[in-house]
Amino acid sequence: ADGVPLFKSPETLAAIQSASRYLTEDLQAVVFPTETVYGLGALALDASASARIFATKGRPPDNPLIVHVSSQQMLLSLLPAGYTLPSAYRVLIDHFCPGPLTLLFPRDPIKIPNIITAGQPTVAIRIPSHPVARALIAVSNSPLAAPSANSSGKPSPTRAQHVLGDLGGKVGVVLDGGPCDVGLESTVVDGLHEDGNIRVLRPGGVPIEDIERVLIQNFDQGKVPKVLVHRRDFLDEDIERAPTTPGMKYRHYSPSVPVKLLRTISKPPHGEEAITPLDLLNSLKRSLTSCTPLKIGLMTPSDSSIAQGLVNDTEVQWYQYVLGSLAEPAVTAQRLFDGFLTLEKAGVDIILVEEVSEDREGLAIMNRVKKAAGEACWIMTPV
Ligand code: TXA
Ligand code: MG
Repeated sequence: ADGVPLFKSPETLAAIQSASRYLTEDLQAVVFPTETVYGLGALALDASASARIFATKGRPPDNPLIVHVSSQQMLLSLLPAGYTLPSAYRVLIDHFCPGPLTLLFPRDPIKIPNIITAGQPTVAIRIPSHPVARALIAVSNSPLAAPSANSSGKPSPTRAQHVLGDLGGKVGVVLDGGPCDVGLESTVVDGLHEDGNIRVLRPGGVPIEDIERVLIQNFDQGKVPKVLVHRRDFLDEDIERAPTTPGMKYRHYSPSVPVKLLRTISKPPHGEEAITPLDLLNSLKRSLTSCTPLKIGLMTPSDSSIAQGLVNDTEVQWYQYVLGSLAEPAVTAQRLFDGFLTLEKAGVDIILVEEVSEDREGLAIMNRVKKAAGEACWIMTPV
């Protein structure tokens, strides 16, 4: 059928079919893998089924959901009759769907229940590339509304085990598809403005550089739509106020232990103070006196310039979680939330995360880290 991949194991298909019955006959929510993070899905076109998602996650009702479809045909069927796609969308859909890209479309009020869009005039839609996700949607023959499968505010789950640790008692079905490839949520874009430009509301799995490249390749010189990143290239009063802007209004991506961002630099920026790894440890020991022994989670690139200087301190119990190398932001993206959740489970008192450059997946990585981190500090690196 449309979008159903062939599975080698009959057990996989049987599991998908039984999850699908749970969705379509019992109108329940199920957890399923996508290439970005695990999702908590329910029938998107049924308001009462979608209401279960909000209840299970403790999600504020004014935060809209992404609708997941298994094919371009299913996507088009959700749009208002006679609607013409913006020309940039045709290019983006051709190149990135299926994949970790979510696009805003005008909402057809007859087709899309109000609860999905939280009263917004737009609806966010994506085509996941994960074979289990697409099969579940195709077998159910219905779009699925799905946020990340975590309690509101927590890091998104990238393994079935993360879901069990968080929502375990609250969901009836969890489809385990192994660790997610991308590890961060989809890039959310709005290309509905008159100017034809693409506004990135949430950086995510598709790097901005890739979107720009594909647009340059497919538009005549001088007519290439711009890619504008929210808060970097544009600031919209409405967006600042509106609950729809991903990650703005609500606390996001935070483990239950404090997170601190370590910005590494060989010379402190003008007006800022940089400290040595030793200064940092001393200040942590002073502020966390009740934690003995002090347990520190440390997330650094595999080729970190500061990790060695820190873990030398033997009064502290170190829990090191190694990310990708500095040249591999995709690996760091894949491991970031697992790092948060693994260290939280290990019972650390604080998590220190070393900054990465904002190139490619790095933009989304730093977006999530900055939201999780209460504070940042500059750490001197050896010159
Ligand atoms: O990768 C992903 O996108 C994952 C997987 C499960 O597909 N889903 C996900 O959903 O991250 P969620 O609900 O955790 O994040 C969706 C974000 C929210 O921040 C929401 O505000 C935004 O998308 N969003 C949804 N509909 C919107 C709309 N109509 N306008 C603006 N933002 C919207
Ligand atoms: Mg989420």
